[in-house]
Amino acid sequence: MSNEIINAMRLRSSQNQLTGQGPSKDEWYSVLNAASRAADHGGIKPWRFRIYEGEVRAQLGECYWALAKSEVPELPESKKDSFIKKAFRAPSVLLVYASTEDHPKVPKMEQIMAVSAACQQVLLGLDSLDYGAIWRSGPVAHSDITKSQLGLQDNDQIIGFIYVGQCEQAKHYIEDTGLDSRISWA
Ligand SMILES: Cc1cc2nc3c(=O)[nH]c(=O)nc-3n(C[C@H](O)[C@H](O)[C@H](O)COP(=O)(O)O)c2cc1C
Repeated sequence: MSNEIINAMRLRSSQNQLTGQGPSKDEWYSVLNAASRAADHGGIKPWRFRIYEGEVRAQLGECYWALAKSEVPELPESKKDSFIKKAFRAPSVLLVYASTEDHPKVPKMEQIMAVSAACQQVLLGLDSLDYGAIWRSGPVAHSDITKSQLGLQDNDQIIGFIYVGQCEQAKHYIEDTGLDSRISWA
């Protein structure tokens, strides 16, 4: 069975060698508008998107550094650059977080799941525009230090950092996703 959308979903892959230019403002609007059609229990639209480009990426780099310093206070300042550089692994970094609310019918977990669905939509949208991207998290995404550095609220939950740029390498294609061992009919 061949279908354009199914093929795009099947052929998407993550890229970690990202260079060149990130998406234009128009492209971001287009991708994020489409991503905002993720399944959303209660129509809460809990996704929040923030784009870091150019020198502003250092704000994210400061998060890596602040977390490292909190874990190893004796880390010398000379190491700081290597943490700042983490945020410069791509020309554009999209912070995606969930702004959760107390809702009588939609638990916080489901609001987070909706934003996670939006992230996958972002990856598909970027792929369709020929951008490479990789969804990253790690301890920095789950730290209150990061939330405070980025000015997020207690009810916000970071879902990930999507690093975006032009691809340096040919995309990989995974022939066998192992579906047969993960599917059954009741
Ligand atoms: C919630 C989430 C967090 C992730 N965090 C990281 C990460 O911090 N570092 C990383 O290398 N890959 C991370 N990944 C995995 C990559 O985004 C990617 O899916 C993986 O490298 C496999 O590549 P593929 O998407 O082409 O199959 C994460 C994926 C998800 C869904």
